[in-house]
Amino acid sequence: MNKKLSTDPYKGVRDFYPEEYAIQEYLYNTMAVVAERYGYIRYDSSPLEPAELYKTKTSEEIISEQTYTFEDRGGRSVTLRPEMTPTITRMVAAKRRELPFPLRWYSIPNLFRYERPQRGRLREHRQLNVDIFGIADQTAEEEIITLAYDLLTTLGLQEDQFEIQINDREALIAQLETLVEHSKMRNALQLVDKKSRLSSETFQKEWKKISKKPFSVTTSEKTKKLKEQLVSNGIKNIIDNPELARGFDYYTGTVFEIFDTGSKNNRSLCGGGRYDNLLELFNQDPIPAVGFGMGDVTMRDILETYNLLPEYIPMTKLCICYADKTSMERANKIVAKLRKQSVNVTTADPNKKVADQIKYADKLKIPFVLCIGKQELTAGTYTLKELATGKETQLAEDAIAQFLLGLDK
Ligand code: HAM
Repeated sequence: MNKKLSTDPYKGVRDFYPEEYAIQEYLYNTMAVVAERYGYIRYDSSPLEPAELYKTKTSEEIISEQTYTFEDRGGRSVTLRPEMTPTITRMVAAKRRELPFPLRWYSIPNLFRYERPQRGRLREHRQLNVDIFGIADQTAEEEIITLAYDLLTTLGLQEDQFEIQINDREALIAQLETLVEHSKMRNALQLVDKKSRLSSETFQKEWKKISKKPFSVTTSEKTKKLKEQLVSNGIKNIIDNPELARGFDYYTGTVFEIFDTGSKNNRSLCGGGRYDNLLELFNQDPIPAVGFGMGDVTMRDILETYNLLPEYIPMTKLCICYADKTSMERANKIVAKLRKQSVNVTTADPNKKVADQIKYADKLKIPFVLCIGKQELTAGTYTLKELATGKETQLAEDAIAQFLLGLDK
């Protein structure tokens, strides 16, 4: 009966205490700002999807091992979305006649995958998804990859701290077809997808189970051209990697992945590519599409590695401390007025000593305190104290808001 509940969150997911959440918000805001700079418009959906959405065309590994799928009370099979690409495709397919193309959309959904939790891999993550529908030529890849690059540099990363690997999945498959039998294709692609994470002995051992021919692939002309174009646009950290496969079966052409060049973070920061045929899921004519997903977990890791996470700055700018309880009512009129004037203001516990009220403000990292008591109310002058410096400023009631709001400018 009395077994104590654990305070731990569910395995592989995170709680965001306020200072942690402030970092999440910084990431989401920067993602939104950069996506919107390229004209992408935000959309969203429910994390619940009918399980059948993932039954074909995505990743074997995700479907068979990594989805959270359950039966609802009405007997329907439901999946917590493990990725956003089938969802955006469903949404576009549902309204293709009304929607304007090229269609540029972004979203920052939470996604669920039953993975072994480890650095860079959790069971719930947030993922920026940026996708463009309706452009068949390589200008779509250029725009999408440039946007991803722009976002990483906006977050403070230098060009030598990350690299963008590109390849063409179609070209990779064509080459593998000369090396393996058709029935082994899926295994071959899965093995190549994992190659960079395996020792060369393990890879060779596994490869021999699939083919007698030695493994060797080269970069296609198409990929070389895309690379040249991006380099000439000023993106120098592009690498053609003919072995890059990506785990999803829906990619039909260009695929790319972004990695930390250092040794601390070995999971990809971002992955994407072209998927021109996914509308087939809904029995519709294809619409060409290119997009990527960029996860918050790996992003936080790399920003932390390079000391690029922002310092916590509370939204609350002012804490009111009460010098005596008898003046509370009049003091709170001032609080109400400050809020009407758009100052973010909180109040300390009037039952505590003033020194402890100030400590409370300090613990919350609130920059200013204003002590209100009989003396201040009678004089009509208030002392605004900046906690970091101890600097005090005498202000009339009407000047407080102006002073605090002026600091933001
Ligand atoms: P993905 O490669 O599976 O692609 O994921 C993209 C990014 O999401 C990864 O590079 C990583 O940053 C993050 N990520 C994925 N799984 C996890 C996890 N378990 N824990 C933490 N972070 C994770 C896709 O999902 C494609 N649907 C992306 C896409 C959009 N392709 C076209 N449009």
